[in-house]
Amino acid sequence: MARRPMMAANWKMNKTVREAQDYMAALIPYASDAEGVDVAVFAPFTCLSEVARMAEGTPIIPGAQNFFYEDSGAYTGEISAPMLLDLGVEAVIIGHSERREIFGETDEMVARKAAKAVSSGLLPVVCVGETKEERDAGGMWEKVSGQVKSVVEVLGGEAGGGSIVFAYEPIWAIGTGDTATPEDAQDAIGRIRELLGELRGEDFASEVRILYGGSIKPENVAQIVAQKDVDGGLVGGASLEVESFARLIEAAG
Ligand code: PGA
Repeated sequence: MARRPMMAANWKMNKTVREAQDYMAALIPYASDAEGVDVAVFAPFTCLSEVARMAEGTPIIPGAQNFFYEDSGAYTGEISAPMLLDLGVEAVIIGHSERREIFGETDEMVARKAAKAVSSGLLPVVCVGETKEERDAGGMWEKVSGQVKSVVEVLGGEAGGGSIVFAYEPIWAIGTGDTATPEDAQDAIGRIRELLGELRGEDFASEVRILYGGSIKPENVAQIVAQKDVDGGLVGGASLEVESFARLIEAAG
């Protein structure tokens, strides 16, 4: 079964509600024309109700950038899966390296969030990736495989490959302009798929989508998404302007 590519905008901590509305209005025609590719927009919490409202009836998948794995309770500052679903949010980024590094999220928290997203009916986009030091020391695979395993171990047995997306995002390539080569992206993503096959079987591994993230731009996207195991991209900087994101969507289709 051919995997459907995904091009995902990660706005990070950018855009007011008004800016989000303008962006969505401009993106909708491009997304509607983009047959054969899933277009997702991961917006800050404050813009989510508008993004989800405007995405309704369009092919755009509205997504959040984080959530907490309990449904409700004394967790000041947190947002739960039922709250996201209430707004019409369909997907959520989990374990982005900025959350792991700046906000101290551990593999265990990331795994609990991934399992909760799947059981709630939210599509998790789980980020994994190594630092420059880890790569230079030959530790890329140890880091990435550990992150993938800790998530897969807690996923319910009934969760199929279509219920989760991974994003391989080498930390040294995020926001630096320093993109992984297409071969590096394929190498890591191909190994992640192989590992998923060992852990969950070939059907799961051939269905699960694995994105690349880290300084994707209109100039380098074609070679990256052409790699056999790369199913699209998770994009920060180059997703903030619709014109640029639209070129990425076109390349992924
Ligand atoms: P970037 O960010 O495209 O700005 O490198 C990607 C990401 O962090 O998801």
